[in-house]
Amino acid sequence: MTPYLDVTVDSSFDALVNQFPQWGIDSIDILIGNAGIATSEHPHENVLDANLEEMFSVFNTNVVGNMRLLRTFTPFLQKSHLKLAVIMSSRMGSIGDVTDRGEAVVYRISKAALNMMSVLYALDPAVKDNGVKVLIVHPGWVKTDMGIAGGQPAKIDIDQSTNSIIDMIEKVCVSQLRQFKGKSDGKESGDKSGEDIVGSIRFSTNIQEIEKRANFNEVVSHLDSDNFVFANYDGRILQW
Ligand SMILES: NC(=O)c1ccc[n+]([C@@H]2O[C@H](COP(=O)([O-])OP(=O)(O)OC[C@H]3O[C@@H](n4cnc5c(N)ncnc54)[C@H](OP(=O)(O)O)[C@@H]3O)[C@@H](O)[C@H]2O)c1
Repeated sequence: MTPYLDVTVDSSFDALVNQFPQWGIDSIDILIGNAGIATSEHPHENVLDANLEEMFSVFNTNVVGNMRLLRTFTPFLQKSHLKLAVIMSSRMGSIGDVTDRGEAVVYRISKAALNMMSVLYALDPAVKDNGVKVLIVHPGWVKTDMGIAGGQPAKIDIDQSTNSIIDMIEKVCVSQLRQFKGKSDGKESGDKSGEDIVGSIRFSTNIQEIEKRANFNEVVSHLDSDNFVFANYDGRILQW
């Protein structure tokens, strides 16, 4: 049975990683930190009345949980050719974008902290110098349990959000592979040449079609220059 990864429990990471040799896994191409929770009052809470006990638990999942994830799996990312960490954050963690009343504070503060943690991770030489890229994503206001909590009128369907995020991830991966291939052309990397590796990844369509997805060009260029980016699911760059 596949062990359930509870991002708040250290031993559940150990249990999962212990299975890797049996499954033949020694590297991870794309690591997605998706786990996230909000408080039981979400989004109807403010600084003056938010439940502080719940705040610890939201932080433990949304911030510390992602730190545990990155710490555990970075050695596996470093061994891959794609080397992409995707962190599911939220536009609600943007300080520059706050326009409404001071609500949903616990969730917002946790996502602002998650953004900072993700950027600091991306800047760590052990990450940056190894070519690991960090894509921090706002999935949109999606009709999930969280999106409709407290009677909120979420705007987009799960398929619309996930399909667009997959398109964006593919575009970033193709760019990573192109760079890897550029560096490795004429050389061998382990037992595979750059051309073999590009050819061995299964994308949803061919590489030429993926490269035409111009709405994600800015995401790729931020990742090339800074190693991290905060992007909307449709490729729009977001304010910190
Ligand atoms: N929905 C939105 O509008 C929206 C907007 C912005 C950002 N986000 C972010 O998108 C991500 C997914 O949220 P969602 O909308 O799909 O919310 P959701 O419907 O409430 O699902 C939450 C997800 O997090 C997982 N999770 C919670 N605690 C966990 C733990 N301790 N260990 C492992 N997994 C855990 C859940 O796994 P189980 O199913 O196994 O419990 C579930 O897959 C979250 O990070 C959220 O903050 C969502």
